[in-house]
Amino acid sequence: MNILFAASEVAPFIKTGGLADVAGSLPPALAKAGHTVHVVLPLYEGIGADWRSQMTFLKYFDVPVAWRNAYCGVFELQQDGVTYWFLDNESYFKRAQLYGHFDDCERFAFFSRAVLETVGQLNWFPDIIHCNDWQSALIPIYLQEDRYRIPQLSHARSVFTIHNIEYQGRFGREVLEDVLGLNAGYFCVDMLAHHNDVNLMKGAIVCADYVTTVSPSYARELHDPFYAHGLEGVIAANSHKLRGILNGIDTKLYDPATIAGIAQPFTPRAPVTGKKACKAALQSAVGLNADPNAPIIACVSRLVGHKGFGMVVDALDKIMEQPVQMVVLGTGDWYFEEAFRTAQQQYPGRFSAQLMYSASLSNVIYAGADIFLMPSVSEPCGLSQMIAMRFGTVPVVRETGGLRDSVPPYNKYTGEGRGFSFANADSGDMLWALEQAVNLFHTDRKAWRALQKAGMTADFTWNHSAGEYLDIYQQLLG
Ligand code: GLC
Repeated sequence: MNILFAASEVAPFIKTGGLADVAGSLPPALAKAGHTVHVVLPLYEGIGADWRSQMTFLKYFDVPVAWRNAYCGVFELQQDGVTYWFLDNESYFKRAQLYGHFDDCERFAFFSRAVLETVGQLNWFPDIIHCNDWQSALIPIYLQEDRYRIPQLSHARSVFTIHNIEYQGRFGREVLEDVLGLNAGYFCVDMLAHHNDVNLMKGAIVCADYVTTVSPSYARELHDPFYAHGLEGVIAANSHKLRGILNGIDTKLYDPATIAGIAQPFTPRAPVTGKKACKAALQSAVGLNADPNAPIIACVSRLVGHKGFGMVVDALDKIMEQPVQMVVLGTGDWYFEEAFRTAQQQYPGRFSAQLMYSASLSNVIYAGADIFLMPSVSEPCGLSQMIAMRFGTVPVVRETGGLRDSVPPYNKYTGEGRGFSFANADSGDMLWALEQAVNLFHTDRKAWRALQKAGMTADFTWNHSAGEYLDIYQQLLG
């Protein structure tokens, strides 16, 4: 099968969130299963010279963006059995930030149209075009007409994956003709119109041949207005072509036996001494007291409301009343950053606020912490709880989306489970689950080790999930 995978960010080239990890690890897994996989993304300013020096320039052409004609250059790079196409247009992509610009609608309208144009220009025949989130949501919409204009697209089927329904790509009605280049017929409730706006995610859900999201639980939650952010009706109307598939992670990359930058490697068979060394290294790296007995509770996340930091801040003093240490890594809302900055002053040597984005420090934390706290109010999938488990760090999570699907709770009678969980988005309930974890850490080392081992040996590879995507592709191709 020929599979074209379009995403607005792809690891290791450029990343702001979990979408990049998925776009960086699912396509190689599909290629490994014997398929021809091309990944296409914008050539951002942030894609470094080391990558650029490995790219080959293929060609350039014009792309229609409504009444404009925009330059598009295509660069190619091969890696892990996958062909990457980087689409170049400096006026759209030579900027410090990936998103958040006044003309995002136009930038990603260009990208989406350019993806389809590239297929024609390079004379490649994709069977499946797999798009992700609002930035590539226009592709299944454009495909409806472009398949009659570009012969290479004539038999392609489209799949659209929702990584987070909170970001829908909503714009004013006026973008329809002038920016998107769509005629007024698209502005109806059965297409892109939603509460009098143009809603790109809605359009993709309607137009794509199949829609997936990143965990089975999130697929169910999307029927609930609390999670669906206004799209519950659209979800209900399209549920016949919706499925939740749990993301995998790159288990080769996140392997405590081989990853660079941690104090001492360790394995599921013999985690104890390595984990001890990593804990000591973490304490010294982030200014926590050198104390092997206090469990370190860690958060690695964007510091925003839907990640549950309201609960963490509410319960912070109660958490710190226990014999624990805590480290938070991430940036985000000022309110949370300030609360953690204050906590660090209030609990010197026991609370560490690392208010930055750092991939290397995140690995030091995954490896050295004991408990990984992820109380998300909503979490389509979540990857960091899986990474934490790979490193023998026991997760405490809210039972939502992919957290629920990847962290079965500890059962004290059977010893089963991989972590601790709570159902309601309530700081008291979170505290209760956290106390269960802290108690077990202090009182039952054997049970704790078993939990660590269950997490470290769980199958978080793409093998199973890539197979589920292939089933869907196959089903669409008949
Ligand atoms: C989004 C979601 C996150 C998910 C990731 C990859 O960032 O918020 O839960 O893990 O996409 O699918």
